[in-house]
Amino acid sequence: MRIFSGIQPTGRKHLGNYIGAISQYVDLQEQGDPAIYCVVDLHAITVKYDPAELRERLYDTTAILLASGLDPEDCILFRQSDVPEHTELTWLLAGTATSHGDLNRMHQFKEKSVKQRELVSAGLFFYPALMAADILAYNADLVPVGDDQRQHLELARQIATNFNNRFGDTFTVPEWRIPEVGARIMDLKNPDQKMSTTSDNPAGTVYVLEDPKAIEKKFKSATTDSGSEVRRALDKPGISNLIEILSVVSGRSMEQVEADFEGQQYGSFKVAVAEAVIEYLRPVQEKYSELRADEAALEAALGAGAEKASAIAGPIVAAARDKMGLGRPVA
Ligand code: TYM
Repeated sequence: MRIFSGIQPTGRKHLGNYIGAISQYVDLQEQGDPAIYCVVDLHAITVKYDPAELRERLYDTTAILLASGLDPEDCILFRQSDVPEHTELTWLLAGTATSHGDLNRMHQFKEKSVKQRELVSAGLFFYPALMAADILAYNADLVPVGDDQRQHLELARQIATNFNNRFGDTFTVPEWRIPEVGARIMDLKNPDQKMSTTSDNPAGTVYVLEDPKAIEKKFKSATTDSGSEVRRALDKPGISNLIEILSVVSGRSMEQVEADFEGQQYGSFKVAVAEAVIEYLRPVQEKYSELRADEAALEAALGAGAEKASAIAGPIVAAARDKMGLGRPVA
């Protein structure tokens, strides 16, 4: 089973990224044939950015992934812009298998385009086609992601099907893997919105590398409701989110968490969630600094990953090009 996923090197990685995606990457790395993980810098250029900062964030994200337990012996970890097949295949798919109407329906494009104060780039509109190219260039069977990527994955499946119908069987139609618990970690201050780096209130987002004291403060000030019972309910999004977080980080079911905190106050529950999250992130934080300090080693790991990635993507994209009647015919 071939596994592929991508993560943006923008902003700082938060608890939602960690629970929804990174922990899945680590769990799956030995099952992949191979498992391929890509730091998607080409996606990051579709909104305003600073080139020097992009490189810094790329190293940050790579070091977080390694500190979380990705092992370049077990998986392929690489930088998207090192493998030109991604950009080439984007155009091949955009030209023949991607409808303008489908791209126009993407929620994330709508959300992100209203946030852009200056230019809404054509690249932001094309973002899901690049994402489809990432996955299809490796004929991935399975794509581990959080819930917010579901619509992009549906489109990637549609694009693969459209291409295959027109040019003959070429690409694997990928399945997604969205975790049952933790697929959508919500903002602590505004629990009707998913946790993200671009949230209006910085107190709502917990970062993977955040100082334990700051993490504790954020959980203590998390928005809850006027009730007092620690149980999940539609009108209790804040408490429901905290129950889900504690379930994942402590390896207990959500029912068990509710039972364990029966009769307890919100205050002591929030402190318990904070402590469990701090312990959960501690090993990553401990390993991060040393890994991040050695940029040459990070470059070496990414370079070796890119070579392995190219060896897989090259022939797959060449076959697509040939079926489309492009370039010198393949004998
Ligand atoms: P990105 O970088 O925004 O997010 C990386 C991963 O984190 C998940 N995630 C969450 N999971 C749970 N709760 C949250 N609050 C939360 N916020 C983010 C995302 O679902 C994602 O899995 N477009 C992708 C990157 C990408 C990609 C790909 C993914 C590019 N090419 C190919 C899969 C396959 C993105 O923006 O992820």
